[in-house]
Amino acid sequence: MDLVKEIKRLKEEKNAVILAHYYQIGEIQDIADYVGDSLGLSQKAAETDADIIVFAGVHFMAETAKILNPTKTVVLPDVNAGCSLADSCPPEAFEKFTKAHPDHVVITYVNCSAEIKALSDIVCTSSNALKIVNSIPKETPIIFAPDKNLGAYIIKETGRDMLLWDGSCIVHEAFSMDKLIELHKKYPDYKIIAHPESEEHILNTATYIGSTSGMINYVKEHQDQKFIVATEAGILHKMQQEMPNTELVPAPAKEDNTCACSECHFMKMNTLQKLYDCLLNESPQIHVPEHIIDRALLPIERMLELSK
Ligand code: 13P
Ligand code: SF4
Repeated sequence: MDLVKEIKRLKEEKNAVILAHYYQIGEIQDIADYVGDSLGLSQKAAETDADIIVFAGVHFMAETAKILNPTKTVVLPDVNAGCSLADSCPPEAFEKFTKAHPDHVVITYVNCSAEIKALSDIVCTSSNALKIVNSIPKETPIIFAPDKNLGAYIIKETGRDMLLWDGSCIVHEAFSMDKLIELHKKYPDYKIIAHPESEEHILNTATYIGSTSGMINYVKEHQDQKFIVATEAGILHKMQQEMPNTELVPAPAKEDNTCACSECHFMKMNTLQKLYDCLLNESPQIHVPEHIIDRALLPIERMLELSK
């Protein structure tokens, strides 16, 4: 069976839209109607008139799409595609933490569960985090969760003193500083660009720090330069497609793996076959309890409003 052809046929027949993150495998990015970062994907999910949203990403992303579209069918090719960062913030413990600091505004990075979003005042992504934090009056104390690395980067950039949750992404914490130094010795004229989920010592080496879309745009604007890319390696697919003549090398991971880069095994759980199956069967579907949607929608809408 020609999976690509069949997915396209089913998509038309069922009025479905395929939204994919830059960390998805190349074949999925190539068949998607839209490929983007977390903010772009939420914006597309908010404005779609499709009946079915096929979310080629991880669970919290599909949940966000469902919160924005409670009456639509939202499917995720592999329902086990989770996120270490979202898992590092369990709702009960987080509720206790926020209750211990009732005067704090709660800003949560979109990489968290719907339950955590329901406990938040406003959501942010890596592309609007600085703007969202700066929108809070200076005298108001802030809780930022769940990513401590992004949180530390925001504190450094804005000068705000925020209370941070102790969460992190296993993929962005897997970069090896020693190997990065070695690689840079081999490619001394390459600039390092990094995602703010990376640890501070990695960020300190970077010429540019930003979201996945931000990194792609930076490379686009500097196509004559060469880059070492410190984020999940799936992003190289889009970069190489759009900038075929730009030389790119993925930042090395601590553990040796097949690509010597950092890969998110959650993102890579989705395959073309699973995408076809979920579109055909309209399963596995994402369900979010109504009382959670009621509380999680406003913090997401606030973010979308501030990001226009
Ligand atoms: P962005 O694409 O929003 O930069 O997020 C990266 C990420 O880790 C998604 O899981
Ligand atoms: Fe989560 Fe990290 Fe994978 Fe993104 S790359 S989905 S933050 S584990």
